Amino acid sequence: MTGEVIDRCKTGIPGFDELCQGGLIRNSGNVLVGGPGSGKTTFLLQFLWNGVNKFNENGLYCSFEPDIAEVAEDAKVHGWDLYKLNDEGKVKFVKFSPETSIREIKSELTKLVSKNDIKRICFDPISVLALSQNDEGKIREMVFELSSLMKRLKVTTIFTDESMELDLGQARMSTDLSKTDIIQFLSDAVIFLYDTGIAGNADRSLRIRKMRRTNHVRQPVGMLINDSGIEVFNGQQE
Ligand SMILES: Nc1ncnc2c1ncn2[C@@H]1O[C@H](COP(=O)(O)OP(=O)(O)OP(=O)(O)O)[C@@H](O)[C@H]1O
Ligand SMILES: [Mg+2]
Repeated sequence: MTGEVIDRCKTGIPGFDELCQGGLIRNSGNVLVGGPGSGKTTFLLQFLWNGVNKFNENGLYCSFEPDIAEVAEDAKVHGWDLYKLNDEGKVKFVKFSPETSIREIKSELTKLVSKNDIKRICFDPISVLALSQNDEGKIREMVFELSSLMKRLKVTTIFTDESMELDLGQARMSTDLSKTDIIQFLSDAVIFLYDTGIAGNADRSLRIRKMRRTNHVRQPVGMLINDSGIEVFNGQQE
């Protein structure tokens, strides 16, 4: 069908939404994949900050790591006062330990979403959730259950997943699939973040590997992180 208008959830990250017909698909499941320091958490915090300040949508940041307080500190560097938004009930932070059962996680999230009218949820990083699980079938089931709950709750979700091997243009063997790579197949969109640039254009880059129902830019584009957060160079702005 041509001309069908798909409802989009704008990230508000300069340059990003133009790469994908206006933003993420509303109520979709998305995954950001990148190495250490590639900007995954920054992307999430900017998505949540913009959600409240530009689009009037409340958010939830879920972490499986112990130092969740540091995340709000990271955000402050970019001028995003998430403590204030937390006090106002607009961006909530929740920490789960890798041992928390999927049933508890689901029940907690369901409560928070309705109590705080949450429209955007971030999980950072999903690989920690998988630490307690060795059985790939179990991990697949957990990821699947979380993603389907998010769809039922009608929220736009971004997971992050860590990857050591990612280098621009480097193809991975199918045998290299890590425990959580299954999330890439289950997600509506897969976005790679790299800490290397392209041909002198910025010193970082980003590539949308897939976004269902979307005619998105497929090649890597330059990206930078500065005091204002992430900026993506989509070739359209000057
Ligand atoms: N004000 C700033 N100006 C420029 N670059 C910055 C600034 N603040 C942070 N950075 C860069 O952002 C990086 C951290 O990004 P972020 O924490 O989002 O990455 P990540 O992918 O979540 O990393 P991890 O895998 O460790 O969780 C820093 O290593 C630094 O290079
Ligand atoms: Mg991070």
